[in-house]
Amino acid sequence: MAGGVGSRFWPASREAKPKQFLDIMGDGRSLLRLTFERFLRVTTADKIFVVTNGRYRAQVLEQLPELDGGQILCEPSRNNTAPCVAYTAFKLHGLDPDANIVIAPSDALILNEGLFADNVNKALDFTAANDALVTLGIAPDRPHTGYGYIQFADALGRDGVYPVRRFAEKPDLVTAQSFLSSGDYLWNAGIFVWRAKTVLSAYERYAPEIYALLSHGLPCYNTPEEQAFIDEFYPQTPSISVDYAIMEHADNIFTIPAQFGWSDLGAWGALYQESPKDGAGNVVAGGPILLEDVHNSYVRGPEGKLLVIGGIDDLMVIDEGDVLVVYPRSREQEIKALRERAEKEF
Ligand code: GDD
Ligand code: MG
Repeated sequence: MAGGVGSRFWPASREAKPKQFLDIMGDGRSLLRLTFERFLRVTTADKIFVVTNGRYRAQVLEQLPELDGGQILCEPSRNNTAPCVAYTAFKLHGLDPDANIVIAPSDALILNEGLFADNVNKALDFTAANDALVTLGIAPDRPHTGYGYIQFADALGRDGVYPVRRFAEKPDLVTAQSFLSSGDYLWNAGIFVWRAKTVLSAYERYAPEIYALLSHGLPCYNTPEEQAFIDEFYPQTPSISVDYAIMEHADNIFTIPAQFGWSDLGAWGALYQESPKDGAGNVVAGGPILLEDVHNSYVRGPEGKLLVIGGIDDLMVIDEGDVLVVYPRSREQEIKALRERAEKEF
């Protein structure tokens, strides 16, 4: 899935080039490219599909030249992940009725890629044999309200696969704190494994509107009519995430607690946490930057411009194109709203 806007990474992430297409980590590869290469440990390039907004098709092909145009599923509108997952399932079910699928975001950082591949393979073995919706779980270390929480039945697990009692998407802080202290909750990594037919049954039951709209296309998937069908009907699907539409309701969810070192690169703070710091706790990225008496800050500047910054603590300074943002690091979540305000007012 590479169709989000990444608005909390503004001003680096823009409508025309959202964060999944950016070299956020600074190693020359975009988040999409990193995700693609990670999956080459699990499968071959011909079995990797990218589902994104149609306007990003050329960028995907440029960053993943191994792909054939037919491996890019183009959405005409942004309707969040539930319609995106359903479209993918219908299409892949048409290619192979037993298709066993991994759905993954393109914006996560995963440190131990070998362990990641082991966990994904274990999930694929499980879903090949069971009508199960599997999600990889991460041990939580704080009451983050931007994630899904998975309550798993520890005593019932076999071979590292545990039945899920409850899935709660983006709880409020008090609820998140109670989940954390109860000790039997994991974060949802947003990496799902299931057979196409299993997830389509879940849509039929829990998201009948999406199922009805997209099942009309059955004669069109994988034919020259597919795009015309999607262009006409996809925009009519309700805009909702797969977490709310399916995962909060289904009763055949399982989780594999994963230990591969995961971070959702959701906002600037996550990037600061994951990056190497200088002696004063600063992360410096991009072009020439001179710091004097600066501590615990994230500073990112363009190649051809010298930034000289002094006497600040705990800020993020992001100079990108026609926008400069100087903001407290602890208030990173406000960036999304600020971007909207900036767009309206200027
Ligand atoms: N193709 C497509 N179309 N992709 C989309 C769309 C869309 O309309 N909307 C979002 N995506 C992509 C994003 O680019 C990202 O890679 C992924 O789907 C997940 O979307 P986010 O918007 O980043 O979701 P989230 O972070 O709020 O929540 C999800 O991820 C968390 C972990 O990072 C949920 O699954 C949570 O439960 C989970 O904890
Ligand atoms: Mg996310």
